[in-house]
Amino acid sequence: MSTQPPRTLIFLNQKGGVGKTTSSVNVAHALALSGYEVLGLDLDPQGHFAASLGLEGLDPGLDEIFFEGVGLLERAQPARERLRLVPPGPRLPEVEQMAGGRERGWILQRALTQLKQPFDYVVIDCPPSSGLLAINALLATDDVIMPVSCDYLALEGLAGLMRTLMRVEQGLNISTRKYVLVTRFNGQRRLPREVRGKLEEYFPGQVLYTPIRDNVALAEAPGFGQTVFEYRPESNGAKDYAALAEDIRLRRVLEAPAAG
Ligand SMILES: Nc1ncnc2c1ncn2[C@@H]1O[C@H](COP(=O)(O)OP(=O)(O)OP(=O)(O)O)[C@@H](O)[C@H]1O
Ligand SMILES: [Mg+2]
Repeated sequence: MSTQPPRTLIFLNQKGGVGKTTSSVNVAHALALSGYEVLGLDLDPQGHFAASLGLEGLDPGLDEIFFEGVGLLERAQPARERLRLVPPGPRLPEVEQMAGGRERGWILQRALTQLKQPFDYVVIDCPPSSGLLAINALLATDDVIMPVSCDYLALEGLAGLMRTLMRVEQGLNISTRKYVLVTRFNGQRRLPREVRGKLEEYFPGQVLYTPIRDNVALAEAPGFGQTVFEYRPESNGAKDYAALAEDIRLRRVLEAPAAG
């Protein structure tokens, strides 16, 4: 285990249902299975990150970090070997209405710097919104990973999100590394192939190498409180997320297409 500060990843996209939680769960577990110490933070009041691991999202958790200054480790629950998770807690929705000044945005960042125990990775699942919870995630992270589903008007939404992020970061005087993650990919159909091609063109050096294919095991596993590595270790979903965790670890991206 390293004595460096942990590398923090957030899965962010204000659009719902693009694979933020599926990616948080399976990337966190893939990293733990590879021998890294991982802390998961379920920053979505829906508590799907916790539920997908078979934990109860309504146990006290991140809400007490925000309102009472409780330490993250005090609310971290053992989830798997080398993987601990802080659930959202029942009062997390109230954070969006929290009173106070600019410091409100830095609560999570401060809690992470006060962690007494070393972790290699912190994986944060964000809600599909752009309020104070998302700001806290942004101020606490090294890397922003934006999942885009090939089923949607991916490009338009993503370009907007990228612009908003840059503006917010300028205002806050921070900068993160930004990555695009292609989810719900079906390489057999023309549209997804085109969308992925466009993404490479518009976001050179930022599209993570492995796309996540559409795979039923990924959709079914959370119902059993299992990650895809437990539910169907031989599935394409397990293969893709294992490869993606390596991409993230090594910052492996698609090469930009040759100019001209
Ligand atoms: N690659 C995939 N193949 C099949 N189903 C998937 C895949 N990725 C995600 N899903 C399913 O799509 C739905 C939305 O995924 P998920 O919950 O991860 O998205 P989200 O971005 O976290 O959504 P929200 O914005 O509501 O938090 C879920 O039912 C999930 O099981
Ligand atoms: Mg989610």
